[in-house]
Amino acid sequence: MTAARMAPSDGVAWITGASSGIGRATALELARRGWTVCATARRLEELEALSAAASALTGRIVAHVGDVTDAAGMEGLVDGIERVHGPIALAFFNAGVAPYTRAGALDVDAFRIAMTVNVLGVANGLAPVLARMGERGKGQVAVNASVAGYRGLPKAAAYGASKAAAIHLCEALKFDCDNMGVVMQVVNPGFIDTPLTRKNDFPMPFLMSMDDAARRVVDGFERGGFEITFPRRLAFILKLMRALPYAWYFPLVARQTGWNKRG
Ligand SMILES: NC(=O)c1ccc[n+]([C@@H]2O[C@H](COP(=O)([O-])OP(=O)(O)OC[C@H]3O[C@@H](n4cnc5c(N)ncnc54)[C@H](OP(=O)(O)O)[C@@H]3O)[C@@H](O)[C@H]2O)c1
Repeated sequence: MTAARMAPSDGVAWITGASSGIGRATALELARRGWTVCATARRLEELEALSAAASALTGRIVAHVGDVTDAAGMEGLVDGIERVHGPIALAFFNAGVAPYTRAGALDVDAFRIAMTVNVLGVANGLAPVLARMGERGKGQVAVNASVAGYRGLPKAAAYGASKAAAIHLCEALKFDCDNMGVVMQVVNPGFIDTPLTRKNDFPMPFLMSMDDAARRVVDGFERGGFEITFPRRLAFILKLMRALPYAWYFPLVARQTGWNKRG
């Protein structure tokens, strides 16, 4: 079955993690392109401000508070959105956290939170959405993973592992989605200037604004294709580095990140 990309006439869009950063900017970009966007996060005030910010746009943004780690809550939310607004045609599982940890004082909670939000949080939303899209024989879903999921990077044992899992789950589900008529996509951004990265204490090459990122994301939704990745130069370099043998990979990354000089 050939899966067709979704348009605003097919139903509404649902974005998790829409109260800030890439999710917020993507909600606005979709509303600019005519979508009704159901925006989910835990902070209601931020979602209401987002809804107000979209008031002059072609589409609109509606706030739906939810915590992606709450499986029953996500199922209820999907049910509520579809009862009130109609079918979810496009779902973007974007909510995420980036806890960093290092080997000398390994923070087990960093793994727990990264896996709970970035992996289980995605599955909690995907389960009810894919069941409904499967019944309808159409739909489009995308997961915001990261280029940090390609290979191990300094400090990113918990974050990178969760993003590698997110990429892997998208790859695995694509086989069924293709047969169900559902477009499955993975979004792998490089460094985007958001509240999440503003706490980073290391250089972020090719840093991109969240508005630019949102345009790339929505262009990618419209274009189809499995992976949406940007900025192109960073993605290209990291893809090449995926192919390097470990004997070359570790010294190269340590040197490029300055990790060989860190304590
Ligand atoms: N910025 C980057 O350079 C970059 C690069 C690659 C990938 N990414 C990925 O892009 C996604 C968005 O990141 P961002 O940079 O835009 O970060 P951000 O500005 O911190 O946004 C994270 C969003 O996730 C929501 N969220 C966190 N925990 C949640 C939970 N339990 N339930 C519901 N929502 C939750 C937050 O909302 P509330 O706090 O209101 O719940 C917020 O809206 C993440 O998955 C991140 O890993 C980012």
